Amino acid sequence: MIRTILTYPNPELKKKSAPVKIITDSVRELVQDMANTMYDAPGIGLAAPQIGVHQRVIVIDISGKNEPPDLIVAINPTIVYAEGEVYEEEGCLSVPDYAANVRRHASVVVKALDIEGVERTWKADDLLAIAFQHEIDHLDGILFIDHLSALKREIFQRKVRKAAEERR
Ligand code: NI
Repeated sequence: MIRTILTYPNPELKKKSAPVKIITDSVRELVQDMANTMYDAPGIGLAAPQIGVHQRVIVIDISGKNEPPDLIVAINPTIVYAEGEVYEEEGCLSVPDYAANVRRHASVVVKALDIEGVERTWKADDLLAIAFQHEIDHLDGILFIDHLSALKREIFQRKVRKAAEERR
């Protein structure tokens, strides 16, 4: 099922998500819905809180093929090692029509459970490293715009207010 992606400034996006205790059928269904929703958007990553579910689940696929073979499912992901620095443009399905450069680690090592409940380790660089950091941030209620300077964030918020006024 394709779910509705919540967008800024929905307060649900600011809430911290809880760890998944057991991988039940409902968690498997959530993962399936998240993958479908991400591919439909289309996007390269999605975190459960973006569809209003506050559980620590993310899906990522940077292949651009928009189908499962390269799908990464990470449950309760944690960054166990990070190094280097990049400053690349990011966007987010929850922050439509906006992109900005964000400072991130260039390489990360992420540990998580996969959909079978098996602990997996990913060593990620570049775009995949950015995607992991961006999606894991969502689980802590952090959006990429929260990493911007106060001035850039002010410009962004002005743009959002203006768009909201124009819709009225
Ligand atoms: Ni995002």
